[in-house]
This record gives sequence, structure tokens and C-alpha cells, in this order.
Amino acid sequence: MKIETALSAGFCFGVKRAVDLVYKETAESELVYTYGPIIHNEEVTNDLSKKGVKVINSMEELKELPAGTIIIRSHGVSKAIYDELVSYGHKIIDATCPYVLKIHRIVMEQSEAGRYIIIIGNRNHPEVQGIIGWCKNTNPNKDDNTTVQKESLPNYIVMEDICEAEQFDLPTDTKICIVSQTTYNYNKFQELVEIISKKGYDIFVLNTICNATEKRQSEAYELAKKSDAMIVIGSKQSSNTRKLYEICKKECENTYYIQKLDDLDLNLFKSYRNVGITAGASTPNNIIKEVLTAMSEKSFEQLLEEEKVVEINN
Ligand code: F3S
Repeated sequence: MKIETALSAGFCFGVKRAVDLVYKETAESELVYTYGPIIHNEEVTNDLSKKGVKVINSMEELKELPAGTIIIRSHGVSKAIYDELVSYGHKIIDATCPYVLKIHRIVMEQSEAGRYIIIIGNRNHPEVQGIIGWCKNTNPNKDDNTTVQKESLPNYIVMEDICEAEQFDLPTDTKICIVSQTTYNYNKFQELVEIISKKGYDIFVLNTICNATEKRQSEAYELAKKSDAMIVIGSKQSSNTRKLYEICKKECENTYYIQKLDDLDLNLFKSYRNVGITAGASTPNNIIKEVLTAMSEKSFEQLLEEEKVVEINN
């Protein structure tokens, strides 16, 4: 059996940076909190919890806790949450990925300049929730006759699919800025942009999909195309791992989505000659290595078995 691991499998630069910052801070400070789990990986979050890192899920929780260090994860947070975190007097370590910070800056500048913001991505994803919070509503909807301010309309929309792009309908003189969630699928993004472009708006498009994601996705696609079976490693909560799984499954029917080695039934791989392995951005290297080692041992055993068969036949 030939096993090939995608070069881009596992931690991306932003996640590695965030995880390293938490480990570094645990070595230097006693009270370390992360705003939400630092990554979608139970192995890592359990390990950090053993080291005393506490995951904070709401501001209410944070109010009750003694002063410590609070770390913002790579997904980033909205401006309102950032400002509130600062106001509590904790030491703040902002581990927001620089690529996500770039999107915050773009939507802030473009919405300030009067553009309506379209964020292509998953509206429930924390990264998208954070981006929304940097769109500035510069167009409060005032009632001219009474000077009473009506509830202002949001100046952004999150689009998840083709159907939402087709239904999008604003006055044609609206100026628009389109950005994407960093982990969104590149081809789908292009499709949605094309649909919106045909509607005649003045559009400023910024492909903010992270290279790491694009690279991981295209490598997974190429590997799945030539493999008899694919293993995709990552948490079930990780949206980028789920996307990798979808891409691989389309090209290779025998694609298996696992979180760790225990989830893998090695016997299933007896009949495959070429096996590909890839992993989501939040999968630590040690888990990938464990799977690779187990698979390699399995293929070594198979090799011995095959040699035995050859010996018997001779
Ligand atoms: Fe950053 Fe890209 Fe990773 S945006 S968190 S380097 S997937």
C-alpha cells in the first residue's frame, strides 16, 4: 500500500501561532483564559485545560473571574467584544490571525466609505460573527419629518449559497464590497461573486480566502483524485475539515472522516493500494503522525503477508 500525506495537512500558520501563544502564556502566568476554545480540537483543548487554561464562553462569566490573561483566538472577535474585554482590565493577548485582522480592517474602511458589505461564508461561524462586528453602520435611517431615529438597517449581509446570491436585491446604485470567510471554498466564492456581478452594482471584490485553505483544498482534491481511499483527520466541529471531507468524498468514494487514530478501522484498508491522508487546520501534527505510523505499520504487515504468500506459492 502506498500512503501519501498532503504537505499542507494540519495546523496552519494562524492556528499554530494562537496555540503557541497560549502554551507560552501558561508557562508565564497563573490565570489564563481563552475567549472560546482556542481551536476546534479536543486533544489540544483538553491538554490546555490540564494546564489550567479556562475557556470563557460569555462576558458574564468573565466578570466573575479574577484578573488574568485573556487570549483572543485566531477567529477574532467583534469590535464590541474586543472593547468590552479591554474594559475589564485583564491582560489581553490578541491571537486573531493576521489574515482575519485584514478582513476586519477592510470591512471597517469600506463600510465607513459607504459600501454595503457582503460576507460570503457561514453566518454561524465565529469568524463571520467577528467580521460582522467590524462593519460600521454609517447610514442611520433617520425620519426627516420627526427627527426620530428609526432602527437602522444593517449595512451588511452574510451569504452562504447560490440561492441567497440569486435572491439578493438592492437598488442598482448601491456600492458593494464583497469579502469572504477565510476558510470558504474558493470555487463557490467565485460562483457567488459571478452571480452578484451580473446584477449591475458597483462592486469591489476582495478574495480574502486564506492561501493555506486554498492550498489545502486543492492538494486534497489532487490527492483524492489519484487515491483509492482518503483519510481526512479533524474535529467534527471544524468547518474547514468538513469542507476537506466534502471535496475528497466527491473525488474518492472511500473517504473516511476521523478525529483521531481510534476512529480508524485499519482493516478497511486491506484492499486499497493508494491511500491519501489530509487534515484540517486545527489538527495537531502528533495526531497526523499517529495515523500515518499506524497505516505504515499496517502496510508493512501486509507486505510481510504478501511475501509469505509468495514463499508458500514457491
Ligand atoms: Fe489564518 Fe488562514 Fe489559518 S486565515 S487561521 S492562516 S486558515
